[in-house]
Amino acid sequence: MSYENILVETRGKVGLITLNRPKQLNALNDALMDEVGAALAVFEADEGIGAVVITGSEKAFAAGADIGMMAKFSYMDAYKGDYITRNWEKVKTCRKPIIAAVAGFALGGGCELAMTCDIIIAAETAKFGQPEVKLGILPGAGGTQRLPRAVSKAKAMDLCLTARMMGAEEAERAGLVSRVVPADKLLDEALTAAAQIAEYSLPVVMMIKESVNRAFESGLAEGLLFERRAFHSCFALDDQKEGMAAFVEKRPASFKNR
Ligand code: CAA
Repeated sequence: MSYENILVETRGKVGLITLNRPKQLNALNDALMDEVGAALAVFEADEGIGAVVITGSEKAFAAGADIGMMAKFSYMDAYKGDYITRNWEKVKTCRKPIIAAVAGFALGGGCELAMTCDIIIAAETAKFGQPEVKLGILPGAGGTQRLPRAVSKAKAMDLCLTARMMGAEEAERAGLVSRVVPADKLLDEALTAAAQIAEYSLPVVMMIKESVNRAFESGLAEGLLFERRAFHSCFALDDQKEGMAAFVEKRPASFKNR
């Protein structure tokens, strides 16, 4: 498949998607999000891929949904076109882990896309924000829901209501970002983390992703039950036998289901 708005590569067991609308600071239009969904579907189906990295440019991960495209929308265009659901949900429903490697602006839909990924690794240059209020709209791709879960109600209200940007250090302190690295090390750091994940048992990795997501999507009792059932099911895997045997025999594990 050929892509016009993204670059797609495979690095070993890692799928790499680079958002590529540099003139528009990677503003997210329907064509780009369709391509992201299509590339993720290919990586999801590829047994050789264990994790995915999504990145942008030095200047922008993505400066938000494409304002030029949205400016003309009527309510009916947005609703009937299923805008924000039709092609954005593919990021959420991907079962393999996705790392967002963020440098520069991650604003509006850009911040929301990063938050939909499983891990955010940021360059020191990263700037996060939900400035939709300045455009007379509210965040529509999860910003009002994922941001408070990641950084607290007070900071989410601050960012969504004032439209100010938050730098990488503040984002790490607040819990949005898992690591901050120098800009020239960003992609290496993200690819190394993804490659490390891809060495583990894929079914176990998928169960961990599903279980951690439960913490955000259900109450504690239901989440704990879900985790326990997934934990018990690991004992049906060859990879559990191998992982524990390797520990006992003091050697590295070699998982079959990678
Ligand atoms: N949509 C469309 N085009 C965009 C864009 C966006 N979100 N963000 C930037 N661009 C375009 C600019 O229009 C400009 O194009 P031209 O050269 O053709 O004029 C180009 O990218 C470069 O941008 P600037 O000249 O503005 O660059 P800057 O360095 O001065 O400023 C910026 C960078 C602060 C990110 C600024 O571009 C900006 O504020 N962008 C809009 C950010 C925003 O409001 N995002 C939220 C969008 S709404 C949304 O995302 C809804 C949702 O929840 C899904």
